[in-house]
Amino acid sequence: MPQITVVGFPTFEAPAGQRLVLALEQNGIDMLHRCGGKARCTTCLVTFSSGEPTSMTEAEKTVLEAKGLLGQGRLSCQILLEADMTLTPARTVSSSGLEAGTPVQDHLEPEPVWI
Ligand code: FES
Repeated sequence: MPQITVVGFPTFEAPAGQRLVLALEQNGIDMLHRCGGKARCTTCLVTFSSGEPTSMTEAEKTVLEAKGLLGQGRLSCQILLEADMTLTPARTVSSSGLEAGTPVQDHLEPEPVWI
């Protein structure tokens, strides 16, 4: 199982294929996912120190480009776990004061087109 290290939290393992935002949330990190994991809000943004996935969904690229965030981080709602990674959430519920947002489905939304 991939090992996930989040700066400031204990390292944990989560199943390959799981959405990163859900793995983080289920392991005690108070992630924001205001749009419900649909690649619209960018509140689930994380920055990688290692293990950044090379593939990206078209939906992620589109919204990162539109918001000027391409190259600044990745959307944890658009990443499926494959390998070990070390990352930092850009914002969390506690750091932003926002509500987490709409619950995230187990499967990728929108239907992924990998680029
Ligand atoms: S872009 Fe909204 S939760 Fe990921």
